Amino acid sequence: MAALVQAKGLSKIYGKGDNEVRALNECNLYFTEGSFTSIVGRSGSGKSTLLHLLGGLDTPTQGSVEIEGRDIYRLLDSERTVFRRRRVGFVFQFYNLMPELTAYQNILLPIRLDNRRVDKDYLDEIISMLGLGERLSHYAGELSGGQQQRVAIARALITKPAILLADEPTGNLDGKSGAEVLELLHLSKKRFHQTLIMVTHDEQIAEGADRIITLEDGCIRGDTERRGQ
Ligand SMILES: Nc1ncnc2c1ncn2[C@@H]1O[C@H](COP(=O)(O)OP(=O)(O)O)[C@@H](O)[C@H]1O
Ligand SMILES: [Mg+2]
Repeated sequence: MAALVQAKGLSKIYGKGDNEVRALNECNLYFTEGSFTSIVGRSGSGKSTLLHLLGGLDTPTQGSVEIEGRDIYRLLDSERTVFRRRRVGFVFQFYNLMPELTAYQNILLPIRLDNRRVDKDYLDEIISMLGLGERLSHYAGELSGGQQQRVAIARALITKPAILLADEPTGNLDGKSGAEVLELLHLSKKRFHQTLIMVTHDEQIAEGADRIITLEDGCIRGDTERRGQ
């Protein structure tokens, strides 16, 4: 199957001279359409750096990332911003919602920034899938962690992205809310056929994926396909 996301020789060095940190070291990876991959590894192993580079949130020191055949770091910054907003959904550990906006406004933000019209049927479908119907007029601070993360997932889905990237999406939640969020990511992937890449340091959570990539000191130490999921 064709790779939807392909990284070649991807490296990231932060800082200079004595302060230099090699966060990612010549990683080669591809992710097929509709696949679900977990990325695991110790704190500081480069998981977030890799995820950000795969989604066009940062710039690599070396190497390339292709998404749907497009080399995203050859785009102008402004083009990459638009491409990312349309094709990539991000879910973060601490939700990153805008506190001065309601749940509803947060969900619609990527569409508004793009001056596009809302697909009402699709919006209703994700709101109902995520169980957010009663919470839409609440501000972010009035929601529980699990609810905030569900709003963040809705915001990530609203543009119908090809790729959903989640960085420790359950890391700040209690067991029950975390399990719900995970279930919703699964459900969304099934229903909308996104390619899901999730960073987690929880091995049990990682086990739910079709493939597990292990990072160590910025290098890929393990890459295991799991059959029959
Ligand atoms: N903005 C930054 N500036 C300097 N060093 C950074 C920056 N972001 C990450 N690092 C360093 O890069 C390495 C990998 O970090 P990160 O990708 O956040 O790892 P992980 O998500 O696996 O915990 C770590 O040594 C971290 O301290
Ligand atoms: Mg991290």
